[in-house]
Amino acid sequence: MWYSVVASFSLLGLFLHVVEFTKGGITSGFVRSINYSLDMPLNSDVFRAPPGYNAPQQVHITQGDHEGRGVIVSWVTPDLPGSNTVLYWVERSENKKYAEGIVLTYKYSRYTSGYIHHCKITNLEFDTTYYYQLGLGAGYSSRTFTFTTPPSPGPDVPYTFGLMGDLGQTFDSNRTLTHYQKNPAKGQTLLFVGDLSYADDYPFHDNTRWDTWGRFTERSVAYQPWIWTAGNHELDFAPDLGEHKPFVPYTSRYHVPFEASGSTSPLWYSIKRASAYIIVLSSYSAYGKYTPQYEWLENEWPKVNRTQTPWLVVLMHSPLYNSYVHHYMEGETMRVMYEPWFVEHKVDVVFAGHVHAYERSERISNIAYNITNGICDPVRDESAPIYITIGDGGNIEGLATEMTEPQPSYSAYREASFGHGILDIKNRTHAFFSWHRNEDGYAVVADSKWLLNRYWKPSEVSPVASI
Ligand SMILES: [Fe+2]
Repeated sequence: MWYSVVASFSLLGLFLHVVEFTKGGITSGFVRSINYSLDMPLNSDVFRAPPGYNAPQQVHITQGDHEGRGVIVSWVTPDLPGSNTVLYWVERSENKKYAEGIVLTYKYSRYTSGYIHHCKITNLEFDTTYYYQLGLGAGYSSRTFTFTTPPSPGPDVPYTFGLMGDLGQTFDSNRTLTHYQKNPAKGQTLLFVGDLSYADDYPFHDNTRWDTWGRFTERSVAYQPWIWTAGNHELDFAPDLGEHKPFVPYTSRYHVPFEASGSTSPLWYSIKRASAYIIVLSSYSAYGKYTPQYEWLENEWPKVNRTQTPWLVVLMHSPLYNSYVHHYMEGETMRVMYEPWFVEHKVDVVFAGHVHAYERSERISNIAYNITNGICDPVRDESAPIYITIGDGGNIEGLATEMTEPQPSYSAYREASFGHGILDIKNRTHAFFSWHRNEDGYAVVADSKWLLNRYWKPSEVSPVASI
């Protein structure tokens, strides 16, 4: 009896799902404040420099190799270059090691940066908590932080990623970061889908707003790696200011392990982390056939071993599927180039930002069109990724509230609220994605979807999936 009721509901759910697809998914009726906040003032506590002479500030870490045994530690010293050394040790161990880094500065329009340090630590133990200390040397102020390395890559290693994009430095940005940090799902590494500081919204792209952003985010990114993707606000391309070379502030401040994946540019690269293989792409670099990014990505697919890292995740800034009016179809040319690969290689999920709102797609593709066949609408495709737009970090430009109507069939759920996401990988077959809006309590899930691994569990029909 109970079984038949469940079966009936499952069938009804399946039916409704199909009907839903034909008319489009859910546009959330959640009523939010239409006001958005300005950037936090320069004297805000979140921007305060640490005490002490030449104390390291804007401390941030990211993965430093391809496997997860490396960490790049970056920081800024304001007064003098100071030391490039990182002292690090395993929790409760007396055996301390040193790693030596580099220091650089850059100029941008009227601005000259502080001393930006980057130090790569390699050959760390997997799944281990380390302490690390910066600002060594007599007369300087040192600071100590911790991080935990991921488990060795493996098919059933649970791991929890946070998702954030288009963060900026408003009061809403601060709420987003706090919600992420207090989410009981506990993200272990953050996947950041581009548009960091929004310094370029200021006259002369006031780069002191890169510094404030570095100090604001330190409370998370000094303790867990953020995996960086470049957005349009990282371009800082301003010929009128004499700045002809794009990405100078971003690439000076945020180093990534691109060479470890055979990339020739920090704007596209890949890493393995626990049970995930993560490919980072650049929406604002050439991606057509024969370009360096295209050739690198073409060579990347055979390297993905789904037996070792079952979860194949792609990050980019400009979404390939977006039903908001803002930035509508801006990702279309990259979709034409790369979507067939995403389907062929069974990418599980593609995360993007750029649109200041949240949206989750159905599992669809649109790769049949060949200029004469007229087949140009997205269709359900079990080999295709789900596309999630998570550009709702809360920056100074506010929410993208205007949506295309009616909601297209590829769009499963959309809502213009600030928030963050969590990708909670359970094992090789199941991962739980959840989206959390800032207006809710820290534990509240506003939208969610069980993801069934495209390689190990290609069918959507699953008892767990219907929970
Ligand atoms: Fe953007």
